Amino acid sequence: MLGECHYAVETSDLLGREPRRVVVAGHEIVLFRDAGGQAHALDARCPHRFADLSGGETRGDCVACPYHGWEFDGGGACTRIPANPPDQRVPKKARVRSWPTVERYGLVWIYLGVREDPPPLPPFPEFGQPGWRAISGEFTWKAHYARVVENGLDFAHGPFVHATSFGRKDRPEVGPYEVEELEGGGRGELDLPASRPRGLWGLFQRGERPPVHVTLEFWMPSINRIDLRLGNGWRIVIFDCNVPVDGSHTRTVWVSLRNFFPGAWADGNARKRVMEVFREDRPIVEAQAAGPPPPAAEQVSVRSDRLPLHYREMREAWLASGHVPPERAPGR
Ligand code: FES
Ligand SMILES: [Fe+2]
Repeated sequence: MLGECHYAVETSDLLGREPRRVVVAGHEIVLFRDAGGQAHALDARCPHRFADLSGGETRGDCVACPYHGWEFDGGGACTRIPANPPDQRVPKKARVRSWPTVERYGLVWIYLGVREDPPPLPPFPEFGQPGWRAISGEFTWKAHYARVVENGLDFAHGPFVHATSFGRKDRPEVGPYEVEELEGGGRGELDLPASRPRGLWGLFQRGERPPVHVTLEFWMPSINRIDLRLGNGWRIVIFDCNVPVDGSHTRTVWVSLRNFFPGAWADGNARKRVMEVFREDRPIVEAQAAGPPPPAAEQVSVRSDRLPLHYREMREAWLASGHVPPERAPGR
């Protein structure tokens, strides 16, 4: 199994009537909505001749295989074989595995575990509250998910990697911070010097630039939460669900909330800013050595690395406690 966890594999708005294909730790999964709009996740290989169900179409409450039209309901049972006469029974073995699926925070979550009672989703209390505007998207990295998560916990790289967006080349020092342990995660927070507001933001922010209060969190095994308080009352919360595609690819399905510019007119600008930061991180993260981060003792770390190191230790403990890392999950 893939460990007792949920993965947000798609944004809700991208899942319409067309089935969608997602890959989690090498497992090919088809997502589709039934006639009532409820999302379902099934193994994507049709048990007949292993065609890819995500290439098919939704019919009523089922997804229909593109090869011979077999139809599968949200529970994974085949309900119709068009080549058979209508009175012939569907073989019992004609079924695919179905995964518990919920929609929360504008994301489609699937649970890849065996517990009757899946563990709770990480908290995202601002989502859906009045005063917050949400946008979402996705980004694919050619890197192991744990490296992507560590990068999202790295307070010290801004002045170098993000010098042209928010980083301050002239203020690289990172003040001391505590790591707070959370149930299944960790958090660090501190003030970072603000950069000169660019573009649209520059029109609304003038004069003194108070520091930005940055709170970085991780949730096991692969979620980053970034909370930016800009000093003028503006706040941005970014929730990155880093889905392990395989041992060297990660798909980040993200939601970003802002409590300013509440209209749709500013969505494009907000999206551009999120994607610009990912694109700045990409060459560095992808050029780190392949695979997961090594044991802490193999690298040199300093004070500002405490939070990413905490994640690394927690992930090692998580693996030692019997969780199979997603990238090494056996097939079923
Ligand atoms: S392979 Fe899917 S119906 Fe034949
Ligand atoms: Fe970054």
